[in-house]
Amino acid sequence: MSKKPVRVAVTGAAGQIGYALLFRIASGEMLGKDQPVILQLLEIPDEKAQNALKGVIMELEDCAFPLLAGIEAHSDPMTAFKDTDYALLVGARPRGPGMERADLLAANAQIFTVQGKALNAVASRNVRVLVVGNPANTNAYIAMKSAPDLPAKNFTAMLRLDHNRAASQIAAKTGKAVAGIEKLAVWGNHSPTMYADYRFATIDGQPVKALINDEEWNRNTFLPTVGKRGAAIIAARGLSSAASAANAAIDHMRDWALGTQGKWVTMGVPSNGEYGIPKEVMFGYPVTCENGEYKIVEGLEIDEFSRECINKTLNELTEEQAGVKHLL
Ligand code: NAD
Ligand code: LMR
Repeated sequence: MSKKPVRVAVTGAAGQIGYALLFRIASGEMLGKDQPVILQLLEIPDEKAQNALKGVIMELEDCAFPLLAGIEAHSDPMTAFKDTDYALLVGARPRGPGMERADLLAANAQIFTVQGKALNAVASRNVRVLVVGNPANTNAYIAMKSAPDLPAKNFTAMLRLDHNRAASQIAAKTGKAVAGIEKLAVWGNHSPTMYADYRFATIDGQPVKALINDEEWNRNTFLPTVGKRGAAIIAARGLSSAASAANAAIDHMRDWALGTQGKWVTMGVPSNGEYGIPKEVMFGYPVTCENGEYKIVEGLEIDEFSRECINKTLNELTEEQAGVKHLL
């Protein structure tokens, strides 16, 4: 018997990430090859954006995806988020060369108060929300705080791109396949302060730390490469990452919905005090997912260097959150 369609809202649907994302959701790569979806697409009311959205919808139609049970175009979050089961909040201004993601806070923060309130009013009571628009952690925090009637744990920020970037660097360094990597973690903010941590990681069952055995590489090559990868892509492309960002969004939602079979992945989630992070801070943690719920991996030892790194990214997040207090 075929499953009942679920509603998936995507904002910024006519943007570059949207274009790399929607077709994969519609083909079943996010929620499974047996799960029909209704896409509820939001763009700004601007005529150009709405026309571009029409074009994307025409292309979605032309794919004749068997799992695509409906497509809606919206210019108002109050209709776009109606009864939605999943919401991917992508729509926001991207940074250009020379900017940090935190520089986007002033431009983008307001979007997430409006959208958080709209989710609060009209979305499914168990909507699962992923914030991609930057600065992703703080925007997710704003949306969560603007939606007091929804479970706070259902608001998440995207750190999966950082996780995937870290995995790829480790695979290259060890000369092994990325598929063999387990137990990798990225702590904190989606910003250059993030702490990509392979102390617990294994590759094909062997400890990554022992295989690499190069603390200088960890500190002076690996961490800056992963932390500044977004800027490197902007410098090379003249535009921020899009296909890899869309891919990470698919990975994040798929794993949350369908489970990780014990594997660790990284999600930005509101803290409950784990590892000394103050409650509600939207923090990148290693998690496992099962039955549609994520669980933070607990009990990991935090050594002195790791604590320094975690404190640094936490301080940045706390400052960002203090900077948006007036919006909440
Ligand atoms: P883009 O400019 O190509 O597209 C953004 C789209 O969002 C535009 O079509 C715009 O009209 C729309 N939009 C703006 N405000 C909106 C609103 N209030 N409601 C609905 N739609 C709105 O940008 P992009 O490259 O797709 O990037 C989108 C965001 O994702 C940026 O903030 C970027 O920095 C961020 N990003 C995050 C990650 C991550 O890992 N978390 C990775 C890559 C990009
Ligand atoms: C990325 O990490 O590629 C995105 O957050 C875009 C950016 O501004 O770096």
